Amino acid sequence: MQVKKVHFSRQATAFYFDTAFAQLKKIVPQKTAVLITDEHLAAAHPKLFKGWNTVVLKAGEEYKVQATVDSIIQQLIALHADRTWTLVGVGGGVVTDMTGYVASIFLRGISFGFVPTTVLAMVDAAVGGKNGIDVGLYKNMVGTINQPQFLLYDVSLLKSLPENEWRNGFAEIIKHAAILDASMFKELQKQKLSFFQKNKPALHKLVQRNAALKAKMVKEDEFEKDKRRLLNFGHTMGHAVEKQYELMHGEAVAIGMVFASKLSAEMLRFKDADKLITLIDQYGLPTSAGYNKQKVFDIMISDKKREGEQMNFILLERLGKAVVKKIPLKEIYKHI
Ligand SMILES: NC(=O)c1ccc[n+]([C@@H]2O[C@H](COP(=O)([O-])OP(=O)(O)OC[C@H]3O[C@@H](n4cnc5c(N)ncnc54)[C@H](O)[C@@H]3O)[C@@H](O)[C@H]2O)c1
Ligand SMILES: [Zn+2]
Repeated sequence: MQVKKVHFSRQATAFYFDTAFAQLKKIVPQKTAVLITDEHLAAAHPKLFKGWNTVVLKAGEEYKVQATVDSIIQQLIALHADRTWTLVGVGGGVVTDMTGYVASIFLRGISFGFVPTTVLAMVDAAVGGKNGIDVGLYKNMVGTINQPQFLLYDVSLLKSLPENEWRNGFAEIIKHAAILDASMFKELQKQKLSFFQKNKPALHKLVQRNAALKAKMVKEDEFEKDKRRLLNFGHTMGHAVEKQYELMHGEAVAIGMVFASKLSAEMLRFKDADKLITLIDQYGLPTSAGYNKQKVFDIMISDKKREGEQMNFILLERLGKAVVKKIPLKEIYKHI
């Protein structure tokens, strides 16, 4: 069990890297903890939950809503949970986002931790303290920024993860490499997804490196005034195509990164767009999609990052170095 503490502004998070799930008992007392998970995990890993108070949610983004929050709270009341209890989200980003939110509001806030079980949650969703729920069509409309007390990383839980969810998580890993870490980019170039799926130490190292990268960005800018925005690389265009074409988030981000890298080539003479596009393809992610230019543009400019006739866009100066640039809307339109 190796633990790394990261101090955020109001709370420190203990990262238990490379730690078997069975160690959870040593981190939180079983009697006063509630594991929150979803039906896919409960079915794939039934033994994990033996001996723990458990709340099992329906799986899927459509359940990341207030009605589910209410039902979790009802179940906590039925368990006689009080302020001294701890909630532990065991699942993907949907479970961890909701667990963090419920823990932040139940009895005005109780402690919580996560055991992320998707690549995406391990390297992204479970790190950084943003949690919340969707309202109607609006994603993450309601929530809090509140850091978990701990994260436990057990990559063996990924054995049951569906193939498309692996690719989804690797889109964020490629994003981290492109914006922050040129040497990780080179390492990814030498491998492909199946290597990491079969090689547990390499997978663990990669996951840990990415979780640490995200934690560092968040620590430097917890309330997203500046550097944390770089993590939105590929996401402005990504969200616009994701909404319309029912793509998985990672696929949409992949297409968004291709767009942003071409725009970077045009605006900042970024030289390695081809390398990024090749890497995205190497990890089984799409590099293009048929979409309606006008529709995508209209959604993009309704984004929060717009300022009048310009828009803040995350571009690459080089691999491993992203910057925020104001881009005229007509330039963006031209390149879609
Ligand atoms: N808080 C943040 O900073 C942040 C950042 C990025 C994404 N998110 C949120 O994360 C969510 C997406 O997360 P996700 O991609 O992990 O989705 P998810 O939680 O829906 O998990 C994806 C699917 O995989 C299943 N699953 C999870 N772990 C499994 C395992 N080990 N074996 C088998 N099946 C498993 C789930 O049941 C689900 O069907 C979105 O709601 C998004 O808004 C939050
Ligand atoms: Zn993302």
